Amino acid sequence: MVESPNFAECLQEWESLEKEHQNIQETHRLYRQKLEEVSKLQEVCSASISRQRKRMKDMSLALKGYKQEMTSDNLNTIEGVQGFIKEMSQAFFEMEAFLPKKNGLYLRLVLGNVDVTLLSKQSKFAYKDEYEKFKLYLTVIHLLFSFTCQFLVRYRTVDTLFNFLLVWYYGTLTIRESILINNGSRIKGWWVFHHYIAAFQSGVMLTWPNGKLYQMFRNQFLAYCSYQSFVHLLQYYYQSGCLYRLRALGQRHNMDLTVEGFQSWMWRGLTFLLPFLFFGHFWQLYNGLCLYRMSQLPECTEWQVIMCGSSFLVLFMGNFFTTVTVVYHKFKHNTEGKPKRP
Ligand code: COA
Repeated sequence: MVESPNFAECLQEWESLEKEHQNIQETHRLYRQKLEEVSKLQEVCSASISRQRKRMKDMSLALKGYKQEMTSDNLNTIEGVQGFIKEMSQAFFEMEAFLPKKNGLYLRLVLGNVDVTLLSKQSKFAYKDEYEKFKLYLTVIHLLFSFTCQFLVRYRTVDTLFNFLLVWYYGTLTIRESILINNGSRIKGWWVFHHYIAAFQSGVMLTWPNGKLYQMFRNQFLAYCSYQSFVHLLQYYYQSGCLYRLRALGQRHNMDLTVEGFQSWMWRGLTFLLPFLFFGHFWQLYNGLCLYRMSQLPECTEWQVIMCGSSFLVLFMGNFFTTVTVVYHKFKHNTEGKPKRP
């Protein structure tokens, strides 16, 4: 049996509790005071950034005007200043990732006006890491699901569940990516838009009634989904590899890095990944063309055929051209380096 403390010990314990409580109150008061200081600093930083941005914009316009009438010496100075202004805008982008900002229309509609800015580097990395892991787990589920639908269970209801999962997954990705962008991620707008289109496309597949045309396309679609999941697994390996290496080097973006080891790892990863990506893009083109041909058949009455076909064609064009542009920019950045200060 546990012995209860005597009255004197009890009073002693109470005194120590009271003291500790006072300490907690003091720490909390200090914490709230610091919070107020932080929010004041945030306001000052945001206001100064927008003021400087405006001045830099005016300056760029003025310099453009002077350019025509300048000698080559002055032209060099102007180009130097313009390069530096570009660098400063980039620095503002980095600073703003740590300042609260208003949500865009989409986040306002989905989450309301809640602040989604993560204020430390660690929490930004952790959120990105969780986003990559979320994609990984869902990709494995998609792979198993599409394999099951293709080879084991051939019911329209199960296909519907699979398409519903896809709609939910892509919808969730768009929200997570908008939060990442708010936190300074440089995800290209196209990849987010790509997920809106993919969600729309899965919604269309969900409503496509079971019939001859649906059955004609079903296996091709499921095989494509399995392949896409496989490519996403490779992409996960590349993206999380970048993330962990960047974290180890204390950087947030791979374009900022000229460290030899990182660059050679990135290029090895990319050259391995690219053939699989391009194959996937041309599969999207093939799906689009097949669906377009199906839409020309006399028995085709479903609007879903042309809708799905068009979205595949849009996905192909956007994915292919964005990937080519990304690789081209990386290559150019790697060979040219950064602009110099005037
Ligand atoms: N989806 C989500 N985020 C992406 C992305 C994608 N497809 N591609 C790049 N990003 C993110 C990066 O993680 C990075 O985020 P960060 O700023 O938070 O660190 C940011 O965008 C900038 O990345 P970037 O340097 O432009 O590219 P990368 O080296 O990370 O990746 C590719 C380059 C080409 C491998 C990648 O864009 C890709 O996989 N694209 C193909 C996607 C595709 O076609 N899918 C369909 C397959 S069938």
